[in-house]
Amino acid sequence: MIDFKIKIGKMLWKNPVTVASGTFGLEFGELFDISQLGAIVTKTVTLHPKQGNAPPRIAETEAGLLNSIGLQNPGIENFIKTDLHEYRIIDTNLIVSISADSISQFGEVIQELERQSGIDGYEINVSCPNVESEGIIFGTDNKTVFKLVSMIKKTTERTVIVKLTPNLTSIENIARVAENAGADAISLINTVYGMAIDIETRKPKIKNVIAGYSGIGIKPIALQNVFRVAKVVKIPIIGMGGIRNTNDALEFIIAGATAVAVGTQNFVNPLSTLDIIQGLKKYLDEKKVQYKDLINSVNF
Ligand SMILES: Cc1cc2nc3c(=O)[nH]c(=O)nc-3n(C[C@H](O)[C@H](O)[C@H](O)COP(=O)(O)O)c2cc1C
Repeated sequence: MIDFKIKIGKMLWKNPVTVASGTFGLEFGELFDISQLGAIVTKTVTLHPKQGNAPPRIAETEAGLLNSIGLQNPGIENFIKTDLHEYRIIDTNLIVSISADSISQFGEVIQELERQSGIDGYEINVSCPNVESEGIIFGTDNKTVFKLVSMIKKTTERTVIVKLTPNLTSIENIARVAENAGADAISLINTVYGMAIDIETRKPKIKNVIAGYSGIGIKPIALQNVFRVAKVVKIPIIGMGGIRNTNDALEFIIAGATAVAVGTQNFVNPLSTLDIIQGLKKYLDEKKVQYKDLINSVNF
């Protein structure tokens, strides 16, 4: 019998496979039993509804996807009235991804969610600008991350996961800061900056010009970030970035991830998470290795 259970903060996951925020929704329930996942991560929600950026805001590249959705979401009040009811009856861990324009606004979003039952954890999306400090991205500033995570930890008993941006010179520093501020886990990576141009019109393929790059092309970038962060923090890492199949997931686990999330690949094969759960079981069985011994086990 393969023991696959992992702990992420206060959560016990039945297996180490989840989905990346923004690439998954309740509609996947029409295709498979979502409760088979170790956890579900919602699309990022913000205090007020957001329409997102103007189109075109998705472009395929030779190796992955560019997106500039701009955190389109119905706002926390509508999320609570609609999707949350459906999410919380699914028999797995529910992680609500949140974002905000300022530290105090993050606090308001958490306070709204604290009044609701059925939520197991929060994923703090810090890849967005802080209007209180000249629009600097939260997740690129050590002091801001420390203040933000400390405040959130004081506001909730639920598991707090900080999702890091890779658009940094040292991801290790910010990971350490998040851990020192009390984060229960770290997820990485969010999208990498990217761009594409239509050579006929010479227009950027994305209206917003600079977009978030995800999928197969970012896998080596994500993997080395997981590897580096695993060397400097003790808290678990949820690894993501270009994971398409079991072999990709195994690389992340061996590099130091306790859990893995599938993002862009959900658009290609919505059942890939289930394939990965089965594939990991088979690998452990064949190699006669315990899951916990596989995590962070790179041989040099
Ligand atoms: C269309 C799209 C929407 C996304 N929306 C969010 C989001 O709302 N919040 C978030 O934290 N990350 C968001 N992401 C980033 C993913 O969660 C993930 O971190 C990133 O895509 C890398 O994983 P992947 O290569 O497997 O897609 C989005 C990615 C895509 C492709």
